[in-house]
Amino acid sequence: EFSSSESPSCHATKPDMLNVHLVPHTHDDVGWLKTVDQYYYGDRNDIQHAGVQYILDSVVDQLLKNPDRRFIYVETAFFYRWWKRQDSSMKQTVQQLVNEGRLEFVNGGWCMSDEATTHYSAVIDQMTMGLRFLNDTFGVCGRPRVAWHIDPFGHAREHASMFAQMGYDGFFFGRLDYQDRYQRMMQKEQELLWRASDSLTPPMADLFTGILPNGYNPPDGFCWDQSCSDPPIRDDPDLEDYNVDDVVKRFLNISMVYKTNHIIMTMGSDFQYENANLWYKNLDKLIHYVNAQQDLGSRVNVLYSTPSCYLQELHRANLTWALKTDDFFPYADDAHDFWTGYFSSRPALKRYERLSNSNLQTCNQLEVLGGPTSTNGPFGKGDSQTMKKAMAVAQHHDAVSGTEKQHVANDYARRLATGWQHCQVLVSNGLAVLSGSTAQRFYCDYLNISVCPLTESSKKFSVNVYNPLGRPVTWPVRLPVNGTAYAVSDAAGTSVDCQVLPLSKDTHNVRRSRGFAVNELVFEVQAPPLGFSTYSVSLLQDGPLAASTQPRTPTAIQNKFLKVTFDPDTGLLSSFSNLETTQTIKLTQNFYWYNASDGNNSESIQPSGAYIFRPNSSTPFLISSTTSVVQEVRQWFSPWVSQVVRLYAHSRTLELEWTVGPLPIHDDLGKEVITRIDTSIESSEIFYTDSNGREVLQRKKDFRPTWHLKQSEPIAGNYYPINSRAYIKDDVDQLTVVTDRSQGGSSIHNGSLEIMLHRRLLYDDVRGVAEPLNETSAIFPEGLVVRGRLLLSLDRPASAADKHRPLAQEMVLQPLLTFTDGDLHPDFSGLQAALPPAVHLLTLTQWDAQSVLLRLEHQFQSWESDVNSKPVTVNLQKLFSSLEVLGVSELNLSANQWKDEMKRFEWTPQNGTGHPLPLKHCWSYYGPYKARCWTLQ
Ligand SMILES: *[C@@H]1O[C@H](CO)[C@@H](O)[C@H](O)[C@H]1NC(C)=O
Ligand SMILES: *[C@@H]1O[C@H](CO)[C@@H](O)[C@H](O)[C@H]1NC(C)=O
Ligand SMILES: *[C@@H]1O[C@H](CO)[C@@H](O)[C@H](O)[C@H]1NC(C)=O
Ligand SMILES: *[C@@H]1O[C@H](CO)[C@@H](O)[C@H](O)[C@H]1NC(C)=O
Ligand SMILES: *[C@@H]1O[C@H](CO)[C@@H](O)[C@H](O)[C@H]1NC(C)=O
Ligand SMILES: *[C@@H]1O[C@H](CO)[C@@H](O)[C@H](O)[C@H]1NC(C)=O
Ligand SMILES: [Zn+2]
Repeated sequence: EFSSSESPSCHATKPDMLNVHLVPHTHDDVGWLKTVDQYYYGDRNDIQHAGVQYILDSVVDQLLKNPDRRFIYVETAFFYRWWKRQDSSMKQTVQQLVNEGRLEFVNGGWCMSDEATTHYSAVIDQMTMGLRFLNDTFGVCGRPRVAWHIDPFGHAREHASMFAQMGYDGFFFGRLDYQDRYQRMMQKEQELLWRASDSLTPPMADLFTGILPNGYNPPDGFCWDQSCSDPPIRDDPDLEDYNVDDVVKRFLNISMVYKTNHIIMTMGSDFQYENANLWYKNLDKLIHYVNAQQDLGSRVNVLYSTPSCYLQELHRANLTWALKTDDFFPYADDAHDFWTGYFSSRPALKRYERLSNSNLQTCNQLEVLGGPTSTNGPFGKGDSQTMKKAMAVAQHHDAVSGTEKQHVANDYARRLATGWQHCQVLVSNGLAVLSGSTAQRFYCDYLNISVCPLTESSKKFSVNVYNPLGRPVTWPVRLPVNGTAYAVSDAAGTSVDCQVLPLSKDTHNVRRSRGFAVNELVFEVQAPPLGFSTYSVSLLQDGPLAASTQPRTPTAIQNKFLKVTFDPDTGLLSSFSNLETTQTIKLTQNFYWYNASDGNNSESIQPSGAYIFRPNSSTPFLISSTTSVVQEVRQWFSPWVSQVVRLYAHSRTLELEWTVGPLPIHDDLGKEVITRIDTSIESSEIFYTDSNGREVLQRKKDFRPTWHLKQSEPIAGNYYPINSRAYIKDDVDQLTVVTDRSQGGSSIHNGSLEIMLHRRLLYDDVRGVAEPLNETSAIFPEGLVVRGRLLLSLDRPASAADKHRPLAQEMVLQPLLTFTDGDLHPDFSGLQAALPPAVHLLTLTQWDAQSVLLRLEHQFQSWESDVNSKPVTVNLQKLFSSLEVLGVSELNLSANQWKDEMKRFEWTPQNGTGHPLPLKHCWSYYGPYKARCWTLQ
């Protein structure tokens, strides 16, 4: 008899023996050296021999040959591609294998997401998509019970929290810092209970976590894939080279240190099992011959298994487990090999992915608000599905992470662009329904470099501002224009303050031959929650701008809320004040570059590359500056670094718009450009970074909360992912920086915060990608230019979160601007009223013809705000203005299980943390044929 959460399809184990769970698996990257489709088909085998379609063909065939055999499959992006090409008899066969637990889905998201550079909303979406396919296709037997992130390069606490809320019973991964692993091995803490939120009541965000013994590879000498060269089991005594005794002896001599009498062995690796017969034939024999030794007194029992069967045994063991509350960043695999470069690699792709997420949420919302006409309306057929898939693929741990080959990065970007085209039709249809106008809508995807054909040439146009947030937003709009004076008014006819500024030299440089506008029109717009406003713009005057005052070094700029001053000699920022709270700090900001290690160094030959950050020296080179002012402060630091400092009239944050590139390489030096803000804040080497854009974690220089760190890279070893914000503080002041994409950063000095903006490297870092990170594009053949924004806010620590949480959400879900050549339309809001400040509208998307998926999130951590951390109630009946709620059913976070059916394994943490208790159960084994128990002290 099994308890409801135990699986009956697991092979029996032997309680008085050491049980070795063999888990046949393949690790199929959703793009890396080849594109996702090239991997699926097995195309371009000259780059890497890998073809997922053959893997699935071959594995199914081999599973049918012996009912004892097991296989797990992980990446639904590939499984989906395979499934839709199968005939109904094959589908039936596979359904049977799944029902019997012989083929088990593990993890089951569209891909195995990166953990350092992804935003939680996009991770939830991609998991939902994969898990929904599995549930729709296989029902309850297709629901993965175990999360499986065997390859990502470090592990985020927010990922663990999400997995717990998605109903997973446990989590396994392969990579953690080598020092951490060693210490955990010594203390038998390679299994632990991860308490992944300081705000959710345990065990809501508790996740049992296991560290796999050998990454995700088989033990040395036991790889029987066609890509390996270990000797097969030669078991015919009449033939040459009979080796069964040797194989058995070697197998029983493998040493592993774990807490129970169950251990897991991952029998597979990257793209293995294309010819599954090789693996299974040898595994069948291994099991047979090793278990045959039991008659001779061996206490080792080998079985085919899966991660969930293994987990079930760990659960049955009813032990207590070490508790962990921080995360697994940064990841180093050796003293000078910190995988902290990819936090910032490919900054343009990282921004494009983030922006695409914003656009996708708008697309999803308009599909709901606009009804069926949105997918088939005046502008034709549109869909959100193409963009959903492109975004899901982009979450892969070699996609947004920036660790793929250049041609694969291009493929991810192309998919996002195609997805956006499909969404644009939907958005145009949806806005047509809601506004009652079928005027053609224009999209300007290059406003970041001041290019927009309509606004450049039109004398009268209107701007529609769609706000995907659940509360109203004020947002600065900058439009490329060629006139000198404009009138702007809102839908009520009220005129709106606006300003025309000459286009900066840098924007001319970045835009190159695209667009011709000589000016920018700047005004602030407001948009209602989950809805839009429209503004009308008309040209008043053509011709050149009146010559502005002579450029001079500015001393200060200010609005009602903030003031910043500049050093008259250097032109750099010198102080930052919040006028409302009467706070002032000293603040300078500058740009520097680290000289990337070229691998030619006495301590280690590790160069900086796509994955790894390894500066040659801890002192970065200063990029010197000159400044002048044209109503906003424009700073030139070098021909390849410039910045605009802006203070919008109604803004409580300071905007720093940086433009970096093309990074020069004529000196043969790889460059990793940072901006560093040095302040008078007494931060005592403590700083804070977010986890996947959600909860915030404390970081301390040269310190890890659960293990004793021997620091070997003073800069790279202190870098952490920043997904949306980071801050430093003391008792009175908190400086928060909100970013527009994922970046790496640190606080190396007291009062300082640095963020890596761009990287250009001349060497590969030997982690497989086999290319230097040396980005160029058609428009920038001499090296990529990237532009982005940082928002700075100065607050009292007690109330800082009230400001930076919503601000970060505004950067993530930014308003979508569309343009029409003529009329103005009344404002629209899909909500009856704005959501309370603590509540974030995370998801609103069509689920099926009758229902929508809605996610509302309490966005404050329990400790961070006196006002906003409290529980809130939202009345769903009174939420929407144009939708009537007929019924509500609650689901888990990934929407693949009804909330009331969600039942997870319960695990008991050890008393106290950091002081492992003496261990009674310790199993390892040492041959020949005998299991032995020993303890490491
Ligand atoms: C058993 O393993 C140890 C260390 O891993 C090795 O030194 C030894 O040679 C092995 N013995 C056999 C019989 O393979
Ligand atoms: C697990 O251990 C606890 C404490 O040692 C004990 O009270 C409990 O009955 C055990 N549960 C099972 C299912 O064996
Ligand atoms: C844009 O404005 C500039 C300066 O007033 C003018 O020289 C130019 O001809 C205009 N370009 C177009 C295409 O209207
Ligand atoms: C980097 O890219 C530039 C521009 O394409 C090229 O000239 C140079 O050879 C590349 N360097 C390396 C090391 O790949
Ligand atoms: C501007 O935005 C586009 C589209 O989002 C992106 O491809 C491009 O890299 C951005 N340009 C810069 C200079 O950052
Ligand atoms: C899972 O799929 C089944 C059909 O396969 C469906 O009846 C059930 O409602 C789905 N569960 C959820 C949570 O959507
Ligand atoms: Zn991988």
